[in-house]
Amino acid sequence: MSNKPDVLLTRAVYPGTVETLEREFTLHKLWTAPDQDKMIADLAPTLRVIAGGYGCNATLLSKFPKLGLVANFGVGYDTIDVDYCAKHGIHATNSPDVLNDEVADTAMGLLLCTARKLVVGDRYVREGKWLKGAMPLTTNITGKTMGIVGLGRIGEAVASRAIAHKMNVVYHNRSKKDVPYKYYPSLVEMARDVDVLMVIIPGGAETAKLISREVLEALGPSGILINVARGTVVDEPAMVELLKSGKLGAAGLDVFEKEPEVPQGLIELTENVVLQPHVGSATHATRTAMGQLMIDNIKAFLAGQPLLTEVPE
Ligand code: DGY
Repeated sequence: MSNKPDVLLTRAVYPGTVETLEREFTLHKLWTAPDQDKMIADLAPTLRVIAGGYGCNATLLSKFPKLGLVANFGVGYDTIDVDYCAKHGIHATNSPDVLNDEVADTAMGLLLCTARKLVVGDRYVREGKWLKGAMPLTTNITGKTMGIVGLGRIGEAVASRAIAHKMNVVYHNRSKKDVPYKYYPSLVEMARDVDVLMVIIPGGAETAKLISREVLEALGPSGILINVARGTVVDEPAMVELLKSGKLGAAGLDVFEKEPEVPQGLIELTENVVLQPHVGSATHATRTAMGQLMIDNIKAFLAGQPLLTEVPE
């Protein structure tokens, strides 16, 4: 028997991270277990660390009376019941900051693909349409206004990119910040005033369907919605309906309510919608850094040292 500490990993993460976890700990990969209940029951009396963060609801967490840490792979921790953790003295960590630039790049990429129809242009060439005539013109982002919903660390990274693209930046946030961008306490009012609504808020119950039908209608027929946050923060059926009818201009989406399932209505909208398979942070370097931060948190916990990135209460 190995004397390395047990770690239960709840989902597949970056392969290099799994290898490091396997070297440092006795790793139990829940999603690969032929009998998950047995794996859970075997670990229940002694397990102190869960990694990965996926599916960490009260039902799972309550199986482990000695649990002390849930270490998430990712900045968003909506798959962890943090209220349960707080009540039961379980720490929770995430992997912020190391992914700010990649998610911001993905967000700007989606915006450029949507406004300038880069994906449509690719198809236009491949399908031989160019031989018959030029592609219809597109929309510039220079001089347009981007309304950022959630001006956290990723939001600020997007704002600086938008400024470099000569856009005006405004924002809606839980509270006003000391930044040189106009603050809108009202999301609907901001949506009415902007050309692009850039959504970068955490998921979870508090933000469910915050980007409501009313907000989407306010963004309007020439408005562009970009979502690199969580699918749950948008009223997805309303968004599909408004995109179909032209009451919302376009959308660039990296996240979906029931991913990896994507509504058929979105799949069918090939002219004004660009879809990505939740790849905001998905580069080798960034996933490696996210994994290392998760592992460093686990090591700090096991050594009784301060955690590096404990999630806010
Ligand atoms: C995150 O870090 O929350 C990303 O969405 C990847 O899961």
